[in-house]
Amino acid sequence: MSVQISPSILSADFARLADEARAVEGADWLHVDVMDNHFVPNLTLGLPVVESLHKATGTPLDCHLMIEDPDRWAPAYVEAGASSVTFHVEAAAAPVRIAREIRAKGARASMALRPATPVEPYEDLLPELDMLLIMTVEPGFGGQRFLDIMLPKIRRTRELIDRHGLQIWLQVDGGVSAETIERCAEAGADNFVAGNAVYGAGDPAEAVRALREQAVAAHRH
Ligand code: DX5
Ligand code: ZN
Repeated sequence: MSVQISPSILSADFARLADEARAVEGADWLHVDVMDNHFVPNLTLGLPVVESLHKATGTPLDCHLMIEDPDRWAPAYVEAGASSVTFHVEAAAAPVRIAREIRAKGARASMALRPATPVEPYEDLLPELDMLLIMTVEPGFGGQRFLDIMLPKIRRTRELIDRHGLQIWLQVDGGVSAETIERCAEAGADNFVAGNAVYGAGDPAEAVRALREQAVAAHRH
């Protein structure tokens, strides 16, 4: 099983997004945090910026929608150029329909869980998904402290995925850094979002390389 690194442009300079995207060209994905100031208490960017980013970089876009009414908006992010679209189950009226629409439009469908949302009720939905995102901070801001209390949930999610023989990626997002990435990888995560740990580093490309090396060494698969 391979390890993937998805630098979050939330920690980048928004006035220089094209350059910031190019600064992490060795990354597997570019993580784009869409926030609407309703689902989370912060406001970031939306469809026009995703469209422009898609034109500006060859790195596939991993759009994380922290918005209300993903039922209405998620498919449009595929049209805007996202290769993976993550919606929050807490905001979704019909998660199966959203996942099917994302896939039908040609992107990977992913579902996110806030720290207080258990994974077990969604066991039967797993075949509809290409990735599960376990939040390791309360969503809304970059640079928060990693929540160690999420490690058991990462482990249980990995067990569920394996028990069903599924190939779903398990992404972690929030406070992932050189200090915490090994714990996440040992618990079974294979896709790692990192904002501050990449864009706060002097050399973002080198930070991606170093994080990948740590995750590969610690991954239990
Ligand atoms: C937080 C966002 C994250 C954020 C992570 O709500 O979903 O993607 O950018 O930033 P760090 O890695 O700095 O915690
Ligand atoms: Zn995110």
